[in-house]
Amino acid sequence: MLSVYICVGSSCHLKGSYQIMKIFQEIIKEKKLEEKVELKASFCLGNCTNGVSIKVDDVIFGNLTPENAREKFDEYILKKVNSND
Ligand code: FES
Repeated sequence: MLSVYICVGSSCHLKGSYQIMKIFQEIIKEKKLEEKVELKASFCLGNCTNGVSIKVDDVIFGNLTPENAREKFDEYILKKVNSND
């Protein structure tokens, strides 16, 4: 199971982290990844850059937006899920 933390700290919250969480939930449903990816909310990840931050396993990625969330899901999460198979 891959744990994905989405930052809901105040800075990320303002930049749309709840929207990103919703988008990720949709993708997980669409791709039937419920058994493989677990989404969690996280307090500030200490990476308040331009966009929202997420943590996949122990790696932090920044600069997510609701607009690029699908692309980033593929890049940071889907690739990892596939490589774990
Ligand atoms: S509020 Fe998200 S990294 Fe700080």
